[in-house]
Amino acid sequence: MFDAATAGQKKLVEVAGLKMYFPITAGIFRRHVGDVKAVDNVSFDIYEGETLGLVGESGCGKSTCGRVILRLYDPTAGSIRIDGVEIGKSTQSDLRKMRPTMQMVFQDPQASLNPRMTVAAIIGEPLDEHSKLTKGEKLDRIYELMDAVGLNRNFANRYPHEFSGGQRQRIGIARALALNPKFIVCDEPIAALDVSIQAQVVNLLEQLQDQFGLTYLFISHDLSMVRHIADRVAVMYLGRIAELAPREALYDKPMHPYTQALLSAVPEPDPNIETERRRIILTGDVPSPANPPKGCNFCTRCPKVMGICRQIEPEFREVEPNRHVACHLYNDTNETAGQTATSEVQEHPTRRTT
Ligand SMILES: Nc1ncnc2c1ncn2[C@@H]1O[C@H](COP(=O)(O)OP(=O)(O)OP(=O)(O)O)[C@@H](O)[C@H]1O
Ligand SMILES: [Mg+2]
Repeated sequence: MFDAATAGQKKLVEVAGLKMYFPITAGIFRRHVGDVKAVDNVSFDIYEGETLGLVGESGCGKSTCGRVILRLYDPTAGSIRIDGVEIGKSTQSDLRKMRPTMQMVFQDPQASLNPRMTVAAIIGEPLDEHSKLTKGEKLDRIYELMDAVGLNRNFANRYPHEFSGGQRQRIGIARALALNPKFIVCDEPIAALDVSIQAQVVNLLEQLQDQFGLTYLFISHDLSMVRHIADRVAVMYLGRIAELAPREALYDKPMHPYTQALLSAVPEPDPNIETERRRIILTGDVPSPANPPKGCNFCTRCPKVMGICRQIEPEFREVEPNRHVACHLYNDTNETAGQTATSEVQEHPTRRTT
């Protein structure tokens, strides 16, 4: 398995203290009455050649996080370094120079491809913007990209609606690859696809990663898929990272109570382990990102909540080598409290629907 941290790999993406607040306005004067804290003080690094999985419930800020890292939004605060270049406050013209390095693959290929453009025009569009290829060179490059993602060259003049969902996503991937990027944010790239073709697209992404040395931020709410593709996994809750750990460590021994609850809902392929699986049912709804709870933002739903959790925001810190957690259970002073709380957790037998 890829072990970037111990291999001393280069950090390609460095995110520190990143915040993305969307203002809420009211009245005819559009008075600023609050903020949706979609991303609230997030820090992590992605090593070159690595896939970092970003998981969490709907609305926790995954897409916003991916988009703001590529500067599709202007961050409220924080720093974003890509390949050593700080882009958090870059001007649009400086960003334009960085665009070829960083690209995005979107969830819904139907919505992200212009229906009036042919496949060749869609894949070639970034080349028009950022390169000075002749017409012939451009067509060669388009064919090369179509080959790379497994699309038949003879379909270059067809329109997106003539393709299946999986093939459309291949067009989106080819477009993202056109300028030889180093870093790609894949925002739920398979969520809109049939289960039968999800694996094909994931395999393609993995194969392209090896071939071109790509680094991925892979956003998904499918924990089984993330387990398959990611080297490390970041678990997000209400705008913050609750836990970040190497894949196997996270799935074998989740530390944050939120990760524990999230993983307890994932079915185990091994029937022996599956019968042992205990489901942790979280009570209550996810609070609004416009009005997150004081202290730890998970305190209103946490089965292991302590007094301190409602008062002080836990620091996101390295509690074991390569394992970062934002939870008071793992503060040195709370070690005994943590153990007590662990034994008190209420677990429910798995609910079977079949
Ligand atoms: N452009 C925007 N303006 C205002 N609020 C926004 C905007 N984009 C996202 N939000 C809010 O920010 C929060 C995070 O949204 P985001 O789309 O990043 O979540 P997500 O984790 O990607 O969810 P999903 O799994 O459903 O895709 C949500 O409360 C959402 O309503
Ligand atoms: Mg999203």
